[in-house]
Amino acid sequence: MADGDTELEARLVEQEEFEPSEEFVAQANVSDPAVYDEFEENWPECWERAAEMLDWDEEYDEVLDDSNPPFYKWFTGGKLNVSYNCVDRHVENGDKNRVAIKWEGEHGETRTYTYQDLYREVNEFAAALRDLGVEEDDVVTLYMPMIPELPIAMLACARIGAPHSVVFGGFSADALATRMNSADSRFLVTCDGYYRRGDPLDHLDKANEGLDGVDHGVDATVVVDRLGDDGFGHDLKGNQHDWDDLLDEHAGERIDPVERDAEDMLFLMYTSGTTGQPKGVKHTTGGYLAYAAWTSHAVLDIEKEDTYWCSADIGWITGHSYIVYGPMALGTTTVMYEGTPDFPNRDRLWDIIEKYAVDIFYTAPTAIRAFMKWGSRFPEQHDLSSLRLLGTVGEPINPRAWKWYYKHIGNEECPVVDTWWQTETGGMMITTLPGIKKMKPGSAGPPLPGIDAQIVDTSGKRVDAGRAGYLTVNKPWPGMLRTLYKNDERFIQEYWQEYSDVDSNDPDDWVYFPEDGAKIDGDDYITILGRVDDVINVSGHRLGTMEIESAIVGVEGVAEAAVVGGNHEVKGEAVYAYVITEEGQDEDDDMRARIIEGVEDAIGPIARPEMVVFTPELPKTRSGKIMRRLLEEIANGEELGDTTTLRNPEIVESIQRQVENE
Ligand code: WTA
Repeated sequence: MADGDTELEARLVEQEEFEPSEEFVAQANVSDPAVYDEFEENWPECWERAAEMLDWDEEYDEVLDDSNPPFYKWFTGGKLNVSYNCVDRHVENGDKNRVAIKWEGEHGETRTYTYQDLYREVNEFAAALRDLGVEEDDVVTLYMPMIPELPIAMLACARIGAPHSVVFGGFSADALATRMNSADSRFLVTCDGYYRRGDPLDHLDKANEGLDGVDHGVDATVVVDRLGDDGFGHDLKGNQHDWDDLLDEHAGERIDPVERDAEDMLFLMYTSGTTGQPKGVKHTTGGYLAYAAWTSHAVLDIEKEDTYWCSADIGWITGHSYIVYGPMALGTTTVMYEGTPDFPNRDRLWDIIEKYAVDIFYTAPTAIRAFMKWGSRFPEQHDLSSLRLLGTVGEPINPRAWKWYYKHIGNEECPVVDTWWQTETGGMMITTLPGIKKMKPGSAGPPLPGIDAQIVDTSGKRVDAGRAGYLTVNKPWPGMLRTLYKNDERFIQEYWQEYSDVDSNDPDDWVYFPEDGAKIDGDDYITILGRVDDVINVSGHRLGTMEIESAIVGVEGVAEAAVVGGNHEVKGEAVYAYVITEEGQDEDDDMRARIIEGVEDAIGPIARPEMVVFTPELPKTRSGKIMRRLLEEIANGEELGDTTTLRNPEIVESIQRQVENE
């Protein structure tokens, strides 16, 4: 953030406000404004309210153990099983015939799982995993697209106390290998392929290539046959097993849900940070599930009778918390869609909403911007009147896109919740409670009850209303990450060091820093301004610039690279790569193609550079640091800030000319 302009930007322009309808408020799960005071006055015991949404095998002794910050423990002494809470208890409570998952494949085929169906398959697959040698606390990697076997595998892992690590299906073989190596994971569940825009994609080929890169070897791989006759004719290797064969072998078997300690790991989720190495964010059984369930109830207003749809991919945290764990803990019907929103036509999502009479829809601003660009005639072809609530997540939403969503999808009747949170927070942190608070397009809203978020300056002092600064969270919460996998030191360094007194044992001296800039208004509404670290947000997906740079530098003929995020109409941000080549290397389209391929191989197509700019030098300060701010300004075609501290100011103009010519 350039300090001068943020002040200017933060000066409050008069903001439009929208109230939830009386009809919505009358039926909302949480509609008494006293909830904010209750949580504040009764903190941390207020969080019992979340814990009470779960069934515990053994009651916890203490809500919060904050004796060793920042290693907080929630609901200590409590024991429970996540698969029991998301499946068995609904079957036992008379909801066995309620639909748990409504799945739609890209070609329009559908599959429906009741809670009873889910119970059967989760048990059978849990039995299969055990038989393959998976023991409690073994990390099982799941590398799959949006097919029902993914949540089934997650719940089966949870049942036997084996943490899962889901790797987004669009990530490359290298990315899979890095994550399996980092998590010491010896088991993989994957599939033969899936459909994208009508064509089958070979996924097993990528998975096999990734497996070759797993240093410690792999004990067993399970492969789902998704493509049938459209498959690529792979033969399964010695330690590879077919999903259906395993289920047949274990048909009808039941596995008792393992009693897990509230603080036992439920899953790992890798996410990008400042360095090239992805971070293994650790989430736990009790606190995470309680938090996902509470926020699903309070913010998404989910009731078990609802048909709820979150269009994210389960490969990201949003899908973990708000396709699988939160909604299923509440026993609702969750919709899963395999494909893209524009296949076969640009009304596909609206078609699905109409077909299943979806009540609640949760998506990303990047998708909304694409819908807006395609035009309102697509949603207008469908009856969307079943909708009651809309939500967004993943990046800031500009007021224009917010209002488009509110009007054309919600018919000005559905509240929109703009939810700020992160992989690390486990669940939503800053957003309006839809039955209580007014909405201000562009601003996520106030912190949720019990969440102490503040906007501070570089010295940690709270900024005044109307000012911009850095977002911090000053009290722990149940859904928080507990550490980075096997790296407590990096956990402190990445999230706490900035604003905490790291030598203190007093929790009041510990402040969580999410690395986002934000501003706050007189009503305590927070507007997120974006990341302040080297992370860019492409279509709501977090990518580390260092990871992309190291992929580019790995391409033959490249000497140095700098990557920044430039503004993009639909994606929010796009990857701009500035590349210095080695002496004698041609700077042509062939080289560009090799660079793009290098990034796709190392990370995946989502990280593909929008533009590759060759330059003989990068703008550097006298101390040799690359001035990324200038490269961003060039990417955005903005007027350039101060260049006087540069060692090589002349290079800036030459880079600028090149970008303009592209
Ligand atoms: C950004 C996704 C503005 C933010 C759940 C955060 C947002 C990062 C919002 C986390 C929002 C997420 N408004 N920005 N409503 N939601 N972000 O870990 O920069 O993939 O730090 O988690 O996305 O991305 P992650």
